[in-house]
Amino acid sequence: MTQSASLSRTLLLQRLADGQFHSGEILGQELGLSRASVSKHVKVLTELGLDIFSVTGKGYRLAKPLSLLSHKHIASELTLLNSSQVEVLNIIDSTNQYLKDLNRAKGNGYVCLAEAQTAGRGRHGRTWVSPYGASIYMSMFWSFQGGHQVISGLSLVIGIAIVKALKGLDVDDVMLKWPNDVYLHGKKLAGVLIEVEGQLGAACDCVIGIGLNISLPSNKLEIDQPWTDLTKGTGKDFNRNTLAATLINELVTILTQFEQSGLEPFVEQWNTLDYFQQQSVKLLIGNKQLKGVACGINGDGALLLERNGQVEAFHGGEISVRAV
Ligand code: BTN
Repeated sequence: MTQSASLSRTLLLQRLADGQFHSGEILGQELGLSRASVSKHVKVLTELGLDIFSVTGKGYRLAKPLSLLSHKHIASELTLLNSSQVEVLNIIDSTNQYLKDLNRAKGNGYVCLAEAQTAGRGRHGRTWVSPYGASIYMSMFWSFQGGHQVISGLSLVIGIAIVKALKGLDVDDVMLKWPNDVYLHGKKLAGVLIEVEGQLGAACDCVIGIGLNISLPSNKLEIDQPWTDLTKGTGKDFNRNTLAATLINELVTILTQFEQSGLEPFVEQWNTLDYFQQQSVKLLIGNKQLKGVACGINGDGALLLERNGQVEAFHGGEISVRAV
């Protein structure tokens, strides 16, 4: 039996996913591979961020069981999309890039998820660390007929959708940090990267990328800010498929509402979820730092900062908010 490397790795992982020991010899027989090939595939999977132990005489074992993404499972829990609007991928460069490369005729709500990203992108040109099976890496397409002027505040409503999905799965204490970070117990749990295409005056095509940490591996990860994941933050295990479907349902609901009514109906809700509400913060704008008290957002989605008794509005772009 010959298989592509990618298929062999998928089949290998399906066997290792139970977290039990599997002998290299039996895995090889089942997959039609030599023991040396099994060992090479295990090495590649380890490089993709999976904790796989190898014990002489026992074989290979994942440090913890893995719930693999299942198109069937996700599709069965969708309320607003049909199964052909969801694509589950294995290892790709970036789900955002994947959707950008697709024909936009796939339509609003078209969504893809991947098990791992080799070139996951974060905001400000950063890398989004994307180990195999450890998080949700998801991108959804949405085209806004009203053009660029109607999408201000889009990332803020996406944050609200993520919080709602998590609350629906009994994860409370989730807060938002302007413009598009999701925080759990003061650490980053999820981030949103929206990539926009379209000429001025024409429809505005958005690829909305979400990275949500579920159970990141224990080995050292190069993440440049305090982070958490759902398992650490709650002490509970989550089924990634249920989480993905819940998130997709909330995203389609909120994007439909946002398309009709804009940001206004969401402003109060965002302000109650604001992690920095009435806190002393500093804004990093290029090389400049501005200190003040965060006062939530206004109807345009701008961050309000009180300085010397005056409230000023700051719009998106290259602004970062930090605690003082
Ligand atoms: C941030 O910097 O906070 C935004 C992170 C966004 C990461 C997600 S993972 C899925 C999608 N694909 C990417 O390459 N990036 C986004």
